[in-house]
Amino acid sequence: MAKKKSILDFIRMKKDGEQVAWVTAYDYPMASFAEQAGMDMILVGDSLGMVVLGYDSTLPVTMEDCISHCQAVRRGAPNTWVIGDMPFMSYQTTDEDAVINAGRFIKEADMDCVKLEGGRRVASRIKAITDAGIVVMGHIGLTPQSSGQLGGFKAQGRDVASARELIKDALAIQEAGAFALLLEAVPPELTRYIAGKLDIPVYSIGAGPCDGQLLICGDMLGLFQAFTPKFVKKYANVAEIEINAFREYIEDVKSGKFPTDDHVYHIKDSIEAFNQMFKEFD
Ligand code: KIV
Repeated sequence: MAKKKSILDFIRMKKDGEQVAWVTAYDYPMASFAEQAGMDMILVGDSLGMVVLGYDSTLPVTMEDCISHCQAVRRGAPNTWVIGDMPFMSYQTTDEDAVINAGRFIKEADMDCVKLEGGRRVASRIKAITDAGIVVMGHIGLTPQSSGQLGGFKAQGRDVASARELIKDALAIQEAGAFALLLEAVPPELTRYIAGKLDIPVYSIGAGPCDGQLLICGDMLGLFQAFTPKFVKKYANVAEIEINAFREYIEDVKSGKFPTDDHVYHIKDSIEAFNQMFKEFD
């Protein structure tokens, strides 16, 4: 089994030009499969609200939801570096709330790092959490928790003026002490510039090549059916496999093809002894 990575590995990987591959996971089996496949890191994203809990945004996700899913992921992937995603309103209020809630991810769910969304406006939160000794990842570009302000789930930084603001945000996040930055849905030209400008690792989800790539497991495995973002490469169609399996099972049950003799526990005494015993109840 590969040794669990640390921030030193991720910093070295950036220096050596070695790509980091990571996915989201929300439960024990998915985390265990990701670890068995050799994933470099796992994000327990608040996207769990949409992918697993059936909400139409990430906003309803609570700290309790996140902690419980992070605990399950940690049990499934004990040797993988796991990031807990701070949910909406767990850090937007004050630096103190941000530190208390970040601490819960570490103490209650054994996370290695927390991630929060936003640029300069959360710089003081990043600094406060880092000062408490907790590893933080920043996240800018398309930030789903502020999709209302962005006018929806839309790519960001496509014009010079907004790209300039994102560069300022990226620099502020590094300055505040984040160990890495995630860029979501920004053009590759901007990603390349930011990844070259920052000393810390810069990762992408839908932002083109840089120091590593993240995909949402529900998208890449074909589990999430509501929509598929342009940047997703689908590696499987698990929804189709599951639906077909469920259909076949229903047919088997209704037609009597399941269960067969192979799917039952066999008696240890003779059938005569059982028949005799049944008579006691007649
Ligand atoms: O919650 C999540 O999965 C995320 C990704 C969209 C980056 O934050």
